[in-house]
Amino acid sequence: MGDNITPPVSKLAAATINDAASSSLVLKHPFSDRVPIQSIVSRPDGGAGLAGQRVRVGGWVKTGREQGKGAFAFLEVNDGSCPANLQVIVDAAVADLGTLVYTGTCVSVEGVLKLPPDGTKQKIELRVEQVLHVGPTDPVKYPIPKTKLTLEFLRDHIHLRPRTNTIAAIARIRNALAFATHSFFQEHGFLYIHTPIITTSDCEGAGEMFQVTTLISESEKLEKELRENPPPSEADIEAAKLAVKEKGEVVALLKSAKASKEEVSASVAEYNKAKENLSRVEERSKLKLGLAQKDGKADYALDFFARQAFLTVSGQLQVETYACAVSSVYTFGPTFRAEHSHTSRHLAEFWMVEPEIAFADLKDDMNCAEAYVKYMCQWLLDKCLDDMELMAKLYDRSCIDRLRMVASTLFERISYTEAVQLLEEAVRKGKRFENKVEWGIDLASEHERYLTEDIFKRPVIVYNYPKGIKAFYMRLNDDSKTVAAMDILVPKVGELIGGSQREERLDFIKQRIGEMGLPIEPYEWYLDLRRFGTVKHCGFGLGFERMILFATGIDNIRDVIPFPRYPGRADL
Ligand code: 4AD
Ligand code: MG
Repeated sequence: MGDNITPPVSKLAAATINDAASSSLVLKHPFSDRVPIQSIVSRPDGGAGLAGQRVRVGGWVKTGREQGKGAFAFLEVNDGSCPANLQVIVDAAVADLGTLVYTGTCVSVEGVLKLPPDGTKQKIELRVEQVLHVGPTDPVKYPIPKTKLTLEFLRDHIHLRPRTNTIAAIARIRNALAFATHSFFQEHGFLYIHTPIITTSDCEGAGEMFQVTTLISESEKLEKELRENPPPSEADIEAAKLAVKEKGEVVALLKSAKASKEEVSASVAEYNKAKENLSRVEERSKLKLGLAQKDGKADYALDFFARQAFLTVSGQLQVETYACAVSSVYTFGPTFRAEHSHTSRHLAEFWMVEPEIAFADLKDDMNCAEAYVKYMCQWLLDKCLDDMELMAKLYDRSCIDRLRMVASTLFERISYTEAVQLLEEAVRKGKRFENKVEWGIDLASEHERYLTEDIFKRPVIVYNYPKGIKAFYMRLNDDSKTVAAMDILVPKVGELIGGSQREERLDFIKQRIGEMGLPIEPYEWYLDLRRFGTVKHCGFGLGFERMILFATGIDNIRDVIPFPRYPGRADL
């Protein structure tokens, strides 16, 4: 028992060091009986300074081969702590090499780190003395063999794809960007607010929400129940009514015959039982197959929340309630859109980072968004360079340069009107777009990418959009034609961020809700923020997966979220 609560004093853990990179000792994982491979191979000396040390490592075999006519095996082992593998050498005397060498095999081994012979690419290798665990893999059946697999193929093996170098590197980059996000906002005094996933308000007013309801499963349950246990017939109801009548007559008879107290109360009990049975029978006779309905529509009063509810498309409206109380806030969570977009930039479930700042206008909003994007780029350069190098090698040679450029270059800022003029000029000079360019259009992805990739070659903030193409909550400008909106467009992706200064004037926002044909009632609470202590405020939403696309150069958004959801697919 003592073993469970006393930290083990292991010779593997006997290291107290300040600077792991320059030390000759390697630290055990704090909560696992092994050394992370990263702490060996990611040192500036590639691990060479650790030669002679005894370590235990665990991981999955990337490639393995028997050598010396089966006398020993070379295994490339990876535990996901970094992109690099550790070369592991196992003698035939130590283990059955046949089961070890297949890609996908899990091993936990202990041995001594040794310098490899001169001229090999590894700086260190592990000579195994003991094999502690083998999780074997049947190479004929393993769906992720070591050959280079396409990302598209891997989407059909969602549960095993984290075993690949690419998906593991993306996971580490994604993790780093999430950490950078919290770091940025925490450093700048923002509170992290958890906004609801289930909501009754349509933030964007675009009607792209997934509905949350138990009405369907309830009606299916009922249908099954009624099939097994049919509802009462007319005759059953009549019989139950007759029983009530008869039991009532017995009570009356006994009372008038001055029967004993016991006899009367026994008959009253019988009578009450018959009444209960009747109401049960009548109740069941009303049960109907199909969805509960009222006035020809689903009866949401009977639904779980006693009203219609949805998965949120954005936490903005709710986070505004906190911005209008504690000033600087952000939310970061999953959002859902039931749009039938089959593009490489859209998901049905994606993550959004949404800051909201009180006492701030559109310019402050742009400054915050620009600083945040730059911060994330610098963070990856500082903390994820090895993974970024893998991306550069395999997917996008320019991705590291792009991060450097964005981290150090001012974003271009142009009004929507100027953007349209630039695009029209390009068309005049012979550029062809699939979508027509004219003032008033919603910029298409091809227009956005042309602005950022061809004209400016850096991120572009487009602001002051026509009110007709933007959401009701955006602040109307003095020209009455445009709203104080801003989108950040970046190379490779197009729209990365959408934000705005919010309409803080009660009569204006009411009018906008009306103009857009939205019902006012569901937004009454939102209007209260304007009725009571209204304040100038602004915010934006950054599509987290789009940020990962932009950083890594990966082409399809389905490959940068662990469990992609899109029309027709929701695996696992
Ligand atoms: O421009 P959007 O729709 O803005 C909002 O939702 C605001 N309520 C945000 C705010 O002001 N707090 O979405 C914000 C960003 C887009 O710029 C885009 O990067 C991303 O979310 N996005 C998607 N990402 C993946 N799949 C989708 N279907 C996306 N829709 C939007
Ligand atoms: Mg947008």
